[in-house]
Amino acid sequence: MTKISGQSHSTDKAIDKIPHHVAIIMDGNGRWAQQKGKLRTFGHKAGVDAVRASVTLARKVGIESLTLFAFSSENWQRPKEEVGVLMQLFSLVLRSEVKKLNQNDIRLKVIGDISAFDIKLQEKIKKAEALTARNKSLTLNIAANYGGRWDIIDATRRIAHKVEQKQLSLNDIDEELFNQHVSTGDLPELDLLIRTGGDHRVSNFLLWQCAYAEFYFTDVLWPDFNEEVFNLAIADFAIRQRRFGLTGEQIMKQEDNDNNNENVIC
Ligand code: IPE
Ligand code: IPE
Ligand code: MG
Repeated sequence: MTKISGQSHSTDKAIDKIPHHVAIIMDGNGRWAQQKGKLRTFGHKAGVDAVRASVTLARKVGIESLTLFAFSSENWQRPKEEVGVLMQLFSLVLRSEVKKLNQNDIRLKVIGDISAFDIKLQEKIKKAEALTARNKSLTLNIAANYGGRWDIIDATRRIAHKVEQKQLSLNDIDEELFNQHVSTGDLPELDLLIRTGGDHRVSNFLLWQCAYAEFYFTDVLWPDFNEEVFNLAIADFAIRQRRFGLTGEQIMKQEDNDNNNENVIC
């Protein structure tokens, strides 16, 4: 039996209900630090432990992809010192964690316009991605200088280029093709989007990918996020009925059919 925050499921059913792809808007670092009378950057540093805890849990429960929003395309507008600390932190964490990620069979991927970063940081990112490229237990996808609108425009530009080069025709453009060209094209559909920090908005995160994701908002500030809070979100996801435009009755019928087919196979 697998236990998710107080609920027990048979292993098969639990695996069924584990989201394949979870994304997190890691918000609330600044307020967490300010509540303690510290500088905002203290909160960013403390947030690294919550990143470790969520990666560990994601791997443990069998989530295939975890996408973390680390720095948005709008975050450049913050005070220069804060942006500087965030860049430094990104670089430090890459240096200290990549080996561990690799040992744990975790693939690291970075999405966003990394061309805006310092060249050394860009090289570090590429090296880490190459080192971990074949790992299978979890894809840890870091969104850095990422914007959902950028992602859509970038995909559009790459598709347009292929049309221009006559590698694609206009009629080839459909949802599936577009999905292959956004930054998460090699990852499973987004199932669950979590936002910490109490605000109920998407802040230009995975706009294309959110289409049928379940949303989970918590007031917990990111540095306080831990396995327990993550488990609550996963357990909440497990009891939701995802309808994808159908009626609740249609979904229940589908589930009955699936269960019957499973029994026949057994
Ligand atoms: C999220 O925490 C981290 C980044 C955006 C880099 P914030 O820094 O936005 O913290 P609050 O929302 O101001 O508390
Ligand atoms: C979203 O948080 C970006 C990240 C968590 C990296 P923000 O703090 O930047 O979002 P807003 O400004 O509250 O919408
Ligand atoms: Mg914020």
